[in-house]
Amino acid sequence: MAQSKPYYVTTPIYYVNARPHIGTAYTTIAADAVARFQRLLGREVFFATGTDEHAEKVERAAAERGLSVKEHTDEMADAYREAWARLGITYDDFIRTSEPRHHRATEEVFRRLRARGDIYKGEYEGWYCVSCATYWLESDLNDGRCPNPECGRPVERRRQPAYFFRASAYGERVAEYIESHPGFIRPEFRANEVLSFIRQGMRDVCISRPNSGWGVPVPDDPEHVVYVWFDALINYLTVVGFPDDMERFERYWPADVHFIGKDILTRFHGSLWPAMLMALELPLPRAIVAHGFWLMGKSKISKSAGGLVTPDELAAHLCQQTGMAEPVALDVVRYFLLRETPFGQDCNFSEEALRGRLNADLANDLGNLVNRSLPLIERHFQGQVPQGTLDGELAQAAERAASAARERYEQFDFRGALEATWELLGSANKFIDYTAPWQLAKEGRREELADALFSVAEVCRIACLLVYPVMPHAAGELRRQLGLPPRVKGTWDELCAPGAEGLAGASVRRGRPVFPRIERPVAVKEEEPMEQAQQPLISIDEFSKIDLRACTVLAVDKVPGADKLYALTVDLGTEQRTVVAGVAEEFSPEELLGKTLVLVANLKPAKIRGVTSQGMILAVGEDKPLGLVVVDRPVPPGSKVR
Ligand code: MSP
Repeated sequence: MAQSKPYYVTTPIYYVNARPHIGTAYTTIAADAVARFQRLLGREVFFATGTDEHAEKVERAAAERGLSVKEHTDEMADAYREAWARLGITYDDFIRTSEPRHHRATEEVFRRLRARGDIYKGEYEGWYCVSCATYWLESDLNDGRCPNPECGRPVERRRQPAYFFRASAYGERVAEYIESHPGFIRPEFRANEVLSFIRQGMRDVCISRPNSGWGVPVPDDPEHVVYVWFDALINYLTVVGFPDDMERFERYWPADVHFIGKDILTRFHGSLWPAMLMALELPLPRAIVAHGFWLMGKSKISKSAGGLVTPDELAAHLCQQTGMAEPVALDVVRYFLLRETPFGQDCNFSEEALRGRLNADLANDLGNLVNRSLPLIERHFQGQVPQGTLDGELAQAAERAASAARERYEQFDFRGALEATWELLGSANKFIDYTAPWQLAKEGRREELADALFSVAEVCRIACLLVYPVMPHAAGELRRQLGLPPRVKGTWDELCAPGAEGLAGASVRRGRPVFPRIERPVAVKEEEPMEQAQQPLISIDEFSKIDLRACTVLAVDKVPGADKLYALTVDLGTEQRTVVAGVAEEFSPEELLGKTLVLVANLKPAKIRGVTSQGMILAVGEDKPLGLVVVDRPVPPGSKVR
């Protein structure tokens, strides 16, 4: 049987003049999510990334650091490898353009195109921007400077004998190809930008520069080295075996998708690259997906932007604010980048938005679904997911979410895939609210309780699969808490089927919440000395600052070494919290379980005997609690007390 073609996905190869930051991480994370998703579909995947090392600015950066180019590039390539490893990037090959295999590929392409007359020697006279590695015409310049809006640096006058690629001969064919292949360039509106660039008349491209000792020497004319962009694009061929192992190459080529940023689409991936492939008589990649920029204010985030601009810095910030584990923090960054903006659009980066995504989507919607159900499973089913029947509506919601998420991932619409998943989480959270399992437990309706808890656990399992391409580590951690092996084994279709992994009977392992919230920084104000002995009156505005909420007690645990204290796990509707209450001598756990109490929900968290208490329940009595403030009718947890 003929083996199906492996799915081949690439990132741009990154310049080694700067370390990885959010912008470069964004492309890499997107490619990784697609690679993971395709593997989950059961396909063989080849995922390539690497470094682009032959730019003149790399030579200059090395010189500025007093290092040889080799020392500098080795160090930078390692920095990329390490950053990608921490971010859980599952690349199969990391190509460096300084490697001999890539020199051979570039030489081969050069020879083939020169032999057919598509490369010729002439003289280049014009301008060059070293930073953008781009040749410009006089008429392109902006007040004598580089016309790239992100750059604007002074350009250098170049007059040199040089080699040219006859791109002009392919302009019309490239344009026709783009027009007749919707989906080749994505998003669609970007295809129009490329078309209008080509239609202005595609010019031959200067593809060499004088040999300064760094780069791929032009075959048979070593006074020149190949222009960095011409050599860089060829990496996509080298990494799958061209020209050394053509059998392998033919199995992998064409690439299924090149992920890139919008800045390197029009001149390079959307026009020059298809023209080069046409001249080589090779098929074009199936899709080129260009994303927008992450901005800070008006400018593109770069390493020089300052602030928290690398995934590691952001993750360290999250860990410090919440105590979450570092691999989870990096998953939060992955989630944020892919969820926050439609792929293709620019987006302004803000810590506020990151905090919102963590607190609302991850801690409340996803984390709490697990946190709300595990204590109940522990308490009522000895910690084993009960055998039950999956609720019909939830089963349908899960099927809808799985099929929508699959379709969205296939279209590289990460935000859409995550939104579909969050609809399912919303349904499951509502399901808990209206089935009120704690009430079922109290009334001894064990069968219904088993159905409800099984249903929620099963939805958690499916949601973990749907988010796995984006948050592999956190999904594994949630699976572990559900009593499943952290690693996903099986294919998307098999695993998304209800009951697929035989969750009933699994021993849940409740641990610390996977996604702790970032509490809003609260300004601490020194208390003013009270002048009057009398209790001062407060205004209604002051009173309304106290956020009182109805909360249902899900679990009651003793605080080790403190006879008077319980650690209560309470349900607030949208989230679950731990609250320490000094009522253990007066109330048994049974008296508290399932009760709806009143919680001061916006009290600054405090650590009491090693347990972080997120709020305070209201009790009556001066020294000892004589009674608890209880809500006398069933109300949804989280309801405001006014
Ligand atoms: N070396 C070339 C690519 C050659 S591919 C054959 C290059 N390298 S780069 O390191 O400058 O940029 C790599 C990618 O990172 C580009 O696609 C670029 O768009 C992306 N980003 C860099 N900063 C960015 C943001 N602030 N936001 C989003 N992506 C941006 O170009």
